[in-house]
Amino acid sequence: VILCETARLRIRHFDCGDAAFILRLLNEPSFIRHIADKRVRSLADAQVYLENGPLAGYAGPGHHLNCVELRDEGTPIGTCGVLKRDGLPHPDLGYAFLPEFWSRGYAYEAAEAVLRHARDRLGLGPILAITGPDNTSSMKLLGKLGFVTDHAPFRLPAGDGELRLFALPA
Ligand SMILES: CC(C)(COP(=O)(O)OP(=O)(O)OC[C@H]1O[C@@H](n2cnc3c(N)ncnc32)[C@H](O)[C@@H]1OP(=O)(O)O)[C@@H](O)C(=O)NCCC(=O)NCCS
Repeated sequence: VILCETARLRIRHFDCGDAAFILRLLNEPSFIRHIADKRVRSLADAQVYLENGPLAGYAGPGHHLNCVELRDEGTPIGTCGVLKRDGLPHPDLGYAFLPEFWSRGYAYEAAEAVLRHARDRLGLGPILAITGPDNTSSMKLLGKLGFVTDHAPFRLPAGDGELRLFALPA
């Protein structure tokens, strides 16, 4: 299933063939540091993660992670989507890209398209985002997308780390 295409990217649902990409993405030091250690250590773990995570989400109302791939080559480069998380009153934007695809504007291009899709097709109202207080790349991206924060420390009920909460007004 293809959600949308941009000038350089295709945003589609993950499928079972993405296990090798997921195994690599989830074990990137940047992913573990800024998001979480999902403890996915093998292709079999990655398959289970896909089935219980993104693939299960596709049956629901539209809050899920997508695969972002280069439109020309079909190379998967990252993930981006709108999620519904316990402890947040509205859906939130999530993303992560392989380091060799940073600093080329791909994350912005994907997030902008996912947000447009969420607004136009799903009719979503306010959209939130959470990030660690030291994740400058992520905060810079959120600023470019129009998200605002009051910079106050924020914690999820189930999480132990201090976060910043951003919101994109409806
Ligand atoms: C957060 C993350 C997605 C940001 O990626 P990114 O590539 O820096 O973000 P952007 O797509 O906005 O790219 C911006 C950079 O591309 C550059 N760029 C190059 N070509 C560009 C183009 N055609 N269009 C726009 N920007 C372009 C910009 O100048 C900017 O460079 P700068 O950071 O040196 O100022 C990435 O760091 C990441 O995956 N981190 C690990 C996971 C993570 O932290 N996720 C978020 C958890 S809250």
